[in-house]
Amino acid sequence: MKRALHITSSARGAQSYSRGLSSAIIKKLTDKKEIGIVVERDLIRLPPPFLDEKLIGEFYKHADPVSDEGRHLLNYADAIFSEIDQADIIVISTPMHNLGVSAPLKAWLDQLVRVGLTYHFNEDGSRTGRFQNKKVYLAIASGGKQAFWPEGYEFIESYIKAVFSAYTGITDISTYRVEGTAMGLPELDYTEILQNL
Ligand SMILES: Cc1cc2nc3c(=O)[nH]c(=O)nc-3n(C[C@H](O)[C@H](O)[C@H](O)COP(=O)(O)O)c2cc1C
Repeated sequence: MKRALHITSSARGAQSYSRGLSSAIIKKLTDKKEIGIVVERDLIRLPPPFLDEKLIGEFYKHADPVSDEGRHLLNYADAIFSEIDQADIIVISTPMHNLGVSAPLKAWLDQLVRVGLTYHFNEDGSRTGRFQNKKVYLAIASGGKQAFWPEGYEFIESYIKAVFSAYTGITDISTYRVEGTAMGLPELDYTEILQNL
């Protein structure tokens, strides 16, 4: 039975389109019996801590922390690392905020990526990510529509793909979008957006 991790990062609760879309992805994968267990990680209910000098110090120790303080500082990072480690499928949703991912999702990524843990450097300076066989589904909601932005203004999917590929080894990422939410979407049907899933 495959295990999914569902990460949500919109502060708009039940009104959130990105959460609606990622929940629809989870439902479809469950209905197709592609996943059996779903672990929820709500980045609004439990916001990731921002990096500070001490935590960055712990990240770069390259060894198990020996002090109680070090263990305490790494609590959040260790918890989300183990959630990814145990998941076969990761479903991530984010609102578009000022063209980028939500701030809590960025903070979550900063807690996840750790040299020596999610990736390591090879002798020639190249990197190898730790997770090779996981699948990510990315659900993005935006007030506007990509078709009307200038060329080169896509930052969310490209950023998520780059970070996961460079620093975790995960390269299998499928993106789904709800666009134009600022115009109101009374007839929105998530199953239509997810037709090819
Ligand atoms: C602070 C903030 C910044 C936003 N920036 C953008 C933006 O750059 N481009 C855009 O198309 N929509 C933008 N929006 C609109 C949201 O992307 C839109 O409301 C979307 O539905 C949010 O996702 P959610 O429904 O999951 O919360 C912004 C909204 C907020 C609150």
